[in-house]
Amino acid sequence: MNKSELIKKIIEKKEFSQLPEKDVEIAFSHFEKRQTSDEEKIRLTRELLHKVFGSFTSQKLLSPKNKSEEWILRKHLSTRERLPYYKEVYERILKEFENKKINIIDLGAGVNGFSYKYFEKKGDYIAIESVGQLVNLMNNYFKENKISGVAYHESLFNLKKIKKIILETGVLLPKEPTMVEKVKILRIIFLFKVLDSLEMLERDYSKKLLKEIAPLADKVVISFATRSMIKQKKFKVERHWILDFIKENFKVLDDFELGGERYICFEEE
Ligand SMILES: C[S@@+](CC[C@H](N)C(=O)[O-])C[C@H]1O[C@@H](n2cnc3c(N)ncnc32)[C@H](O)[C@@H]1O
Repeated sequence: MNKSELIKKIIEKKEFSQLPEKDVEIAFSHFEKRQTSDEEKIRLTRELLHKVFGSFTSQKLLSPKNKSEEWILRKHLSTRERLPYYKEVYERILKEFENKKINIIDLGAGVNGFSYKYFEKKGDYIAIESVGQLVNLMNNYFKENKISGVAYHESLFNLKKIKKIILETGVLLPKEPTMVEKVKILRIIFLFKVLDSLEMLERDYSKKLLKEIAPLADKVVISFATRSMIKQKKFKVERHWILDFIKENFKVLDDFELGGERYICFEEE
């Protein structure tokens, strides 16, 4: 089989059927040149894709009917763990933006859009996510609940598109034609428990992404799990590689741990 036939075969599996081509291609490139059978390349690529995109999502999430926000948030490993702490986390992260108009841009959002009601301070919410089923789920929820949110089906490896989406948010054109100035809306970018997933597909991509997007934002918040999401054991990894990079390149505003998740807030210097 040639490359495009192999990729077609890989995404025949429902779990991967709605992933952006870019992500599937990067995953496949890890095994493309390996001296092994096509079947084995397909198996290995699917295994990697599952680790990056599928392992947090319960199958039940792919076809929920009339379920509450909490039900959805509980069916995704990342949001389930955060559920008791949402209010506190958002209050702390957004404390300096009281009385200001903000836009949240949530990269690799999973189903985090369902936590919209925990934002004390409401602004627009923009999610970017590779798993098409989760994107549809969020968009339906926003529509049904008249929430000012939108989810984009896009890979974070598509840097040009990601920057375009970020840039298109945040500048509100004046409603009255006589107003000359544009109203600046602050942009806050979330990358919750996403950098590890990016690194699994391309080493050091997190650094490249942060360097490109941080200048477009007023604040960036990244997070990591500090204990295994499945076994609940404390991790040994300290993630110096990314912490040092952030300290060297940006101004750290806050760094705290809550509910097995470490949050680091920073801005462009
Ligand atoms: C561990 S989950 C975290 C979800 C969410 N940020 C949260 O903390 O609740 C990682 C998410 O990132 C998404 N993701 C991973 N790599 C991505 C990529 N290259 N582009 C877009 N989304 C990606 C996955 O599909 C998954 O939903």
